[in-house]
Amino acid sequence: MLLGVNIDHIATLREARKINDPDPLEAVFIAKRAGADQITLHLREDRRHMHDSDIKRVRESSFLPLNVECSINPQIIDFLLEVAPHRITLVPENRAEVTTEGGLDVIGNSERIAEIAQAFKQKGVEVSLFIDAQLDQICASKEVGAQMVELHTGAYANLHLMLNTNLPLTHNAIESLQLPREALKAQFHDSIESLKNAAKEAKWLGLEVAAGHGLNYHNLAPILAIPEIVELNIGQSIIARSVFSGLETAIKEMVELVKR
Ligand code: PXP
Repeated sequence: MLLGVNIDHIATLREARKINDPDPLEAVFIAKRAGADQITLHLREDRRHMHDSDIKRVRESSFLPLNVECSINPQIIDFLLEVAPHRITLVPENRAEVTTEGGLDVIGNSERIAEIAQAFKQKGVEVSLFIDAQLDQICASKEVGAQMVELHTGAYANLHLMLNTNLPLTHNAIESLQLPREALKAQFHDSIESLKNAAKEAKWLGLEVAAGHGLNYHNLAPILAIPEIVELNIGQSIIARSVFSGLETAIKEMVELVKR
């Protein structure tokens, strides 16, 4: 299993002050040292975290293969055709969303996606589509010329959270919270089955299969057990954990300076 580390939220932290600290490029070096296989960045239309210059710098560093998530927005596609990362992952994008909420509608956008896939392939860039675990979207992904699909694990992760922790929940999760526990368990079971079936179908069609969104240190096991999935892209939980695994050292270093 390969691990792509999504470092968007290093840039989210940087944007809080608009100075180049923390620098996402430094996170690329750390990810490489720590054994990650790939860096994943999302260039959003509103540039709320990663900027065009980040994409260029990470690409130029060539430390790890670069997977850029993006919408089908023409300006972003043109920019990425120029940068030519190792892979692009097309995702749906909605300006008001906190994070990518659902999978790409490949069926509804098939012409445009086929055109984009063709253009990237000519540049030697691999094309992946971030989709929900639905068989019709998988078939459409093959038809438009994608080489890979990334299965959206967000619904699975939300259900896992609801059944196993008391952490604050997302809006969608709160709606499902009205359901009795048995119904939640059934939905959780169904979400794993859908991912398994989707992964099998995609591999059978000759697509490589990745998965991502909402994966964390507690919910990985059922996903790792799906043999067709060869790559996971994980961001928020890694960056969130790094705050607490690094906070003590950071405070000690400042205490040292202040008390000296
Ligand atoms: N994969 C895709 C396609 C995504 O859009 C995201 C979020 O940017 C991730 C993986 C990582 O999700 P998370 O930050 O929840 O681990």
